[in-house]
Amino acid sequence: MTSRSWWLAAVAASVAACSGDDGGTAADAGPPDARIVNGCPALEEPQAAPGDAIDGDTYVTFAMGFFSQHCIRCHSSTLAGADRNGAPAGYNWDVEATMRMHLAEIRNAVGVANFMPFSGPQPTCAERQRLVRWIDADAP
Ligand code: HEC
Repeated sequence: MTSRSWWLAAVAASVAACSGDDGGTAADAGPPDARIVNGCPALEEPQAAPGDAIDGDTYVTFAMGFFSQHCIRCHSSTLAGADRNGAPAGYNWDVEATMRMHLAEIRNAVGVANFMPFSGPQPTCAERQRLVRWIDADAP
C-alpha cells in the first residue's frame, strides 16, 4: 500500500465514522447520494454532457484561473526539484496542452478522490464541481 492510499483509506474511515451525525453542508455541492471523500462529494457521475453551455465557462475564463490558484505552486513548468513539492515531473498544469492530456487524472484528483491540491488553500466543493463540470462538457 502506498503512503497515499493509506492516507486516503484513513480519511475514508474517519468520514464513514462520522456519517449520519448531520446533513453535512459539503454534500450540498453534489448529488444527494454522492459519497463524501475528503470533505467533498465524489463526483463519479457526469456533471455535464459534451457541448453543454455550463454558464459560459471556458479554459480562459475559468479553468486557467482555477489551476493558477490551486495547482501551479507545485505543478508548474517553471519549477524544478524540491520546489515542486513532490509533484511528478512533467505534470505541469500551466501548459495547456499538457494539462489537457491529463484531464481524466485531474478529474479524479479534484472531483472524485479529492486528494488534490496536496495542501491548502483548498478549493470549495462547489469549485471542485465546477471544474469537473468543465471537464465533462469537453473542456471548452
Ligand atoms: C502542494 C503541492 C501540490 C499542489 C498544490 C497540487 N499538487 Fe498535484 N501532486 C502533488 C504531489 C506531491 C503529487 C504526487 C502524489 C502521489 O503520487 O502520491 C501530485 C500528483 C498529482 C496528480 C497525479 C496523481 C495521480 O495518481 O493521479 C494529479 C492528476 C494532480 N496532482 C493534480 C493536481 C491538481 C489538478 C491540482 C490543483 C487542483 C494539484 N494537483 C495541486 C503536489 C501538489
